[in-house]
Amino acid sequence: MERELEKYLFDHSTPEDPVLKDLYRQTYIRFINPNMVCGHLQGKLLELVSKMINPSTVLEIGTFTGYSAICLARGLKADGRLLTIELNDELADFTKSYFQRAGIAEKIIQITGRAQDIIPGLTEVFDLVYIDGDKREYSEYYNLVIEKIKPGGYIIADNVLWDGKVVLKRTRDHQAKGIIEFNEMIKKQDNVEYIILPVRDGLMLIRKTF
Ligand SMILES: C[S@@+](CC[C@H](N)C(=O)[O-])C[C@H]1O[C@@H](n2cnc3c(N)ncnc32)[C@H](O)[C@@H]1O
Repeated sequence: MERELEKYLFDHSTPEDPVLKDLYRQTYIRFINPNMVCGHLQGKLLELVSKMINPSTVLEIGTFTGYSAICLARGLKADGRLLTIELNDELADFTKSYFQRAGIAEKIIQITGRAQDIIPGLTEVFDLVYIDGDKREYSEYYNLVIEKIKPGGYIIADNVLWDGKVVLKRTRDHQAKGIIEFNEMIKKQDNVEYIILPVRDGLMLIRKTF
């Protein structure tokens, strides 16, 4: 039944375009932990949310092979820019080739390094930030980016259900601990409104109110 439903979701969503289809396939063929790629349904949601916001500036933490960056960049204003930060310096050439094939390379600034080292030096004010780096570091990313988001701007954080482990009272899973800490921290903020969408591994949509 679950498979049938998933097929139904795919059948009733705009089909994946050939560039993203190939990127997804090559990610599975060529890289370890390919399941980190967000894939079609989540990617299409990111694309449509970005198109709704129509941002001038987007920041992504965790490029991996560039799937989500392409989706988010498709919602940018004509002169908009997406900065995407990736720790692993072996990915940049592969990713860039897909940004070119997707026709959005001139809108994307790829930065290699540790997000925590790079964000403090960024001078942009962002309309949208996508958090998808190391799950143990989500709270750190949030505390660094929140001052760089304009009031009325958004954060989308991926994997906030961490395979359902967020409901465990005790866990030794450090990623789960990081996500639980992040989710609890968001509850204590007074300048955001937020919701968890149960899409794939959980997407938290956060709007900065002031
Ligand atoms: C889940 S993957 C990103 C998937 C991608 N956003 C997508 O949907 O296709 C997480 C990526 O974050 C990177 N990463 C982990 N910690 C990081 C950090 N502190 N700064 C920048 N990138 C980081 C990892 O190397 C990995 O490629």
